[in-house]
Amino acid sequence: MLSITSTFALLTSLGAVTLASAQTNFEGANLQPNTKVGDYQYLGCANEVPGRTLTAISFSNDSMKIEDCQAYCTKNNYRLSGVEYGQECYCGRFIAIPAALGAYQCNMGCGGNKKQICGGSNRVSIFNNTNINAVAAAPKLTGTWQYQSCFMEPQNSRALDILIKADDNMTIEMCTQACGDAKYPYAGVEYGRECYCGATQSPNLQDASDPTCSMQCDFPCGGNAQQICGGRLTIGIYKNTAKSKMSRAAVMGARKGRFVKVVKESEVAAEGQ
Ligand SMILES: *[C@@H]1O[C@H](CO)[C@@H](O)[C@H](O)[C@H]1NC(C)=O
Ligand SMILES: *[C@@H]1O[C@H](CO)[C@@H](O)[C@H](O)[C@H]1NC(C)=O
Ligand SMILES: *[C@@H]1O[C@H](CO)[C@@H](O)[C@H](O)[C@H]1NC(C)=O
Repeated sequence: MLSITSTFALLTSLGAVTLASAQTNFEGANLQPNTKVGDYQYLGCANEVPGRTLTAISFSNDSMKIEDCQAYCTKNNYRLSGVEYGQECYCGRFIAIPAALGAYQCNMGCGGNKKQICGGSNRVSIFNNTNINAVAAAPKLTGTWQYQSCFMEPQNSRALDILIKADDNMTIEMCTQACGDAKYPYAGVEYGRECYCGATQSPNLQDASDPTCSMQCDFPCGGNAQQICGGRLTIGIYKNTAKSKMSRAAVMGARKGRFVKVVKESEVAAEGQ
């Protein structure tokens, strides 16, 4: 059993650690995993992997500081931020497997604050903003468009072959609208800003929605940060579930004719939307 004095000593030392790190903003060469400063928690030092440990957006600046990288990722709706090689910043939603968190070989000072460690050579110091509540997601349904999944683009072709629109303000609705207007049953968003349409979807696509896949769908849509619009070389695909291709007028005309096409109520309703 702990004596009152040792309990007090323990509390004091824990308090001192929290206070010190809050004041120093993750400074110190032997920063320990789970250290928290404000909303941010240091998760540890991870090895870099092909395709990147944090797969989404990035920037580099000679005068990088940990808080610059955290602010950049938070602004773009990413929980995870990682600093590497003293000057690089990466954001992501997952730590890509096979990267693993440890506490080793993150040993390069940040360009903008030498008291902070900004990863190392092929090592990334990763932080989590635990206060991002609504993490962006691919909406399951947009009008009559049903989310299929997120896929890797095939090596030498495209999952959907028509690039119909590229817009910094891309949203899922903007893309499904564009493909719907052009009468394509498939719509796909990529890289946060690109919209592809197709009459068919390439067969045998690799599903990228599994966090173990090296490329992920982790780019928020330029026009709506709560939505995911694919990623680097990954495409979030939607399929139009509205079954009837006939306009209401055409349906009524068919009813008057000799060969009456039987149209299900649901199809007429879907067409009317
Ligand atoms: C790097 O960061 C500094 C300080 O925030 C800023 O003044 C400078 O413009 C940045 N450089 C680049 C190339 O973005
Ligand atoms: C980041 O923090 C959130 C909120 O506490 C938590 O749900 C999530 O699992 C954390 N992510 C990692 C990779 O630790
Ligand atoms: C994107 O939206 C912003 C803000 O509404 C607007 O200022 C900008 O012109 C838009 N960009 C494009 C390419 O439409």
